[in-house]
Amino acid sequence: MLRPADDRSNFESGNIDLDRFFRRFAGQNQFRHHIGATYIAVEGEHVLGFATIAGGNIEIEDLPKTRRKKLPHYPLPILRLARLAVDQSAQGRGVGKLLLRAVFQITRDMAESVGCVGVVVDAKPDAVAFYERYGFEPFEVIEGALGSRPEPLPMFLPLGEIPRV
Ligand SMILES: CC(C)(COP(=O)(O)OP(=O)(O)OC[C@H]1O[C@@H](n2cnc3c(N)ncnc32)[C@H](O)[C@@H]1OP(=O)(O)O)[C@@H](O)C(=O)NCCC(=O)NCCS
Repeated sequence: MLRPADDRSNFESGNIDLDRFFRRFAGQNQFRHHIGATYIAVEGEHVLGFATIAGGNIEIEDLPKTRRKKLPHYPLPILRLARLAVDQSAQGRGVGKLLLRAVFQITRDMAESVGCVGVVVDAKPDAVAFYERYGFEPFEVIEGALGSRPEPLPMFLPLGEIPRV
């Protein structure tokens, strides 16, 4: 988990928004406002990647019909993977997978301790295929629009389908 002394100033994932968030806001969001927690992967003093999570909820109508089962019509608790990024120097070395593994364990723990039906991520277009590898599905499938879609795609991974990675 992020500590105040961790050096975030040189982090560069290639995505300016994610880098700015990590450098300027991840700390205060966790230490002062308590609106999200950031987990980091480190090698010595060097931060290789981070995952920021927060509690959230979805409505049953957000889920595809096959996933609604007998769930109630009040807000359903989920874990939101708000941001995930790996430093360019470490991409492709399994760091993203390592961070996801930690997020999956937290989701299982949350399900046991407070309730949680799965993980939600707003996937950047370039990262959609990354999340699909782990079973995340788009909330709504817009045929033919995926390839050119500039805005994030909300994706869901149900608790029962979280892979052992
Ligand atoms: C997307 C990102 C988090 C992946 O992290 P990473 O550490 O490079 O990925 P890993 O090395 O852990 O890859 C795990 C697996 O996913 C695959 N993968 C990695 N990036 C992928 C992508 N964009 N699309 C499809 N598959 C991908 C890898 O080949 C690897 O497969 P394997 O397990 O069969 O070897 C990272 O590239 C990144 O930070 N990108 C820029 C910021 C960003 O887009 N973040 C996502 C915001 S929603």
